[in-house]
Amino acid sequence: MRPVLVAGDANVDLVLRGDVVPRFGQAEQLLDSGELVLGGSASIVACGLARLGVPTHLVARVGDDAFGRFQLDALAAAVVSTTHVAVDPDLPTGLSVILSAPDDRAILTVPGTIPTLRAAAVRAALAATGATHLHVASYFLQPVLAAELPVLLAEVRAAGVTVSLDTNWDPAARWAGVLELLPHVDVFLPNLSELRALGSGADVDIARQLAQRGPRVVVKAGADGGWSVDSAGSLAHAPGLPVDVVDTTGAGDSFDAGYLAALAHGVADEAERLRWAAAAGSLSTLGSGGTGRQATLADLGAA
Ligand SMILES: Nc1ncnc2c1ncn2[C@@H]1O[C@H](COP(=O)(O)OP(=O)(O)O)[C@@H](O)[C@H]1O
Ligand SMILES: [Mg+2]
Repeated sequence: MRPVLVAGDANVDLVLRGDVVPRFGQAEQLLDSGELVLGGSASIVACGLARLGVPTHLVARVGDDAFGRFQLDALAAAVVSTTHVAVDPDLPTGLSVILSAPDDRAILTVPGTIPTLRAAAVRAALAATGATHLHVASYFLQPVLAAELPVLLAEVRAAGVTVSLDTNWDPAARWAGVLELLPHVDVFLPNLSELRALGSGADVDIARQLAQRGPRVVVKAGADGGWSVDSAGSLAHAPGLPVDVVDTTGAGDSFDAGYLAALAHGVADEAERLRWAAAAGSLSTLGSGGTGRQATLADLGAA
């Protein structure tokens, strides 16, 4: 199997649970739990792919600090190649503090090295690894890379590399540049909120309009699983698995990993690819953080 290259964020997540709504005025609140875990959409997708038996490289940047070393160790433990994760001597590793309540969460992010990934590093990693698929995550956290993507993606696709994109949410709520990028993308992976931010009307109609720009649009629909439309407008669906959710952090990233792993393993049927994706997303909610309980091929009934 040819390797996949994942480009994007490599930050740590500090997940806090319990009475997490902050009260100022120097109040001290005692919480139920606090865990430092591997974070970043790109890093979580990379771990999910590796766990599903796909040779996976990450191209990203961390700082020369304890969080950066933690992230590198966690990626290596997940058998993700970190040869192309650069250590920045000046900036800190990105940090997200996740205030996790039972049915909602707030995320406080220090970007650190996250916005410093450049197209040149992605290009070099593709050449060195021979990857035949490139997944780009967290578009809006990396505005410099985002501006370079139209040229980069056109170039890599002309060389025969396929491309997937999960923008994740736009903190600025402007969604600039995404529609223009879609002609350079083979698989676009929004969740329902992100889909609705990119168009108006019924969900399937928005997805069809986006797919007309080129990519297959694969939509994450929470407990309902996932569905997709291709540029011809044809629709496929797979339900989520019934689960007792512990933590939905990174569920969408594990969904992406399930879908991309099915592609890498040569699964030709779209409904079956969606089944891998929805099952991988659902199973990931059984553990804390993005990579606590990621699916294996055996979990998907695909071993
Ligand atoms: N409550 C749930 N029950 C079962 N599966 C879920 C649940 N929440 C999420 N998932 C799984 O995780 C995937 C991604 O979750 P979703 O919330 O749609 O995306 P994101 O994490 O990007 O916001 C879903 O498509 C589904 O497979
Ligand atoms: Mg997401």
